[in-house]
Order: sequence, then structure tokens, then C-alpha cells
Amino acid sequence: MTDLEVRAERREDHPAIRGLLLAAFGPGSPEADLVDALRAEGAHVPELCLVAVRDGEVAGHVFFTRAALDSGAAVLSLAPMAVLPAHQRTGIGSELAREGLRRAAATDFPAVVVLGHPSYYPRLGFEPAGDLGIHSPYEAPPEAWMAHRLPAYRPGVRGLVVYPEAFGAFG
Ligand SMILES: CC(C)(COP(=O)(O)OP(=O)(O)OC[C@H]1O[C@@H](n2cnc3c(N)ncnc32)[C@H](O)[C@@H]1OP(=O)(O)O)[C@@H](O)C(=O)NCCC(=O)NCCS
Repeated sequence: MTDLEVRAERREDHPAIRGLLLAAFGPGSPEADLVDALRAEGAHVPELCLVAVRDGEVAGHVFFTRAALDSGAAVLSLAPMAVLPAHQRTGIGSELAREGLRRAAATDFPAVVVLGHPSYYPRLGFEPAGDLGIHSPYEAPPEAWMAHRLPAYRPGVRGLVVYPEAFGAFG
């Protein structure tokens, strides 16, 4: 496997990230517009929005936004995450998520929530969010709604997640 560089996304990466999201989620999928709208809304946390670059090509991307809890605290949302189809299942997604979570651990955010594959995220330290009292505004199978506790976590961090507005338009 060739070297993989994981670094914060830059403005000049945005077109490649759009192409990557359309390739990974399929033509016409909403994730590329969602990411643009979240950036425009200022909901993203730039130092946690990462690209994985392999052989000069943006091969993977992970995006973190701020989400509120109706009880007052804020958490991080991991979404979307994508890897170019030709590079999937080579460890890039795991590498990106791990680096994002490592950087997130240095913030004041108490937790990261994700709605995703229940067979994928537990290996990255995610657990059922409902068990922590953190609830999704979307109908989702309980095992797909997960949270990762960060060092700033405390048991009082509970409630219903209120996503940034753009999720309502595209999510
Ligand atoms: C999901 C995704 C980001 C994972 O990235 P990746 O670099 O392929 O993942 P890794 O190589 O780090 O890990 C591979 C593991 O991911 C899991 N995985 C990958 N794609 C999966 C899928 N579509 N469904 C369920 N599990 C999947 C498998 O468990 C796989 O392990 P295995 O090969 O031993 O079975 C990537 O496959 C992707 O972009 N998929 C399309 C877009 C998407 O669904 N994004 C996630 C939204 S929650």
C-alpha cells in the first residue's frame, strides 16, 4: 500500500471532495450539496474535517459538524464519511475516522454521534447512543444510532440531538 496523508481539508480540495461524495454515494445523492450547505452555515468544525490523500488524489473524506442537545450541551456529528469506490476496504475510512476522533479528543466536545453501519463504527469505539440517553431526531434502528464518548464526556450529557439546519434540507 502506498503512503496515505491525512490532513485538514483545504478550499482547493472542495471540488475533489464533491466528486468523491458523488462517486461514493452515487450520482444525484445529496451528500455533496449537504457538505457545501453545512460549510455555508458554518456548522462544520474545520480542524476535524479531513481528507485522506493517496498518490496525490483525494481518496477519502470525513466531515464533522456541531450539533446541539436539547438539554443545552453540544456534541459532534460525524457525517458524511466517504472513500472513493476504488479505494474502499483498504483501511482509509478507518484511518480517517481514527484521526478525526483523535483530534476531537483534544476539544471540549463530550461526544461524537453517528448514524451509520452498526458493523463498522463499534470497532472505532462507538456504542449505542440510546444507552447513554442521547437520542436521534430521526427514525433509525437503535443499533445504527451510535455515540463515541470523548474525554470531556460526563454522564449528564443526554438529550435529543438537534442537527444543523442543512440536515433538514438534505438529510
Ligand atoms: C463506509 C466507508 C466510508 C468505509 O470506508 P473504507 O475505507 O471502505 O473502510 P475500511 O477499509 O477502513 O474498513 C473496511 C470495513 O468497513 C466495513 N464496510 C465498508 N463498506 C461497508 C458497507 N457498505 N456496509 C457495511 N460495512 C462496510 C466493512 O466492515 C469492512 O470490513 P471488511 O472489509 O473486513 O468486511 C466506505 O466504504 C464508503 O465510502 N462507502 C460508501 C459511502 C458510505 O456508505 N459512507 C458511510 C455513511 S455512514
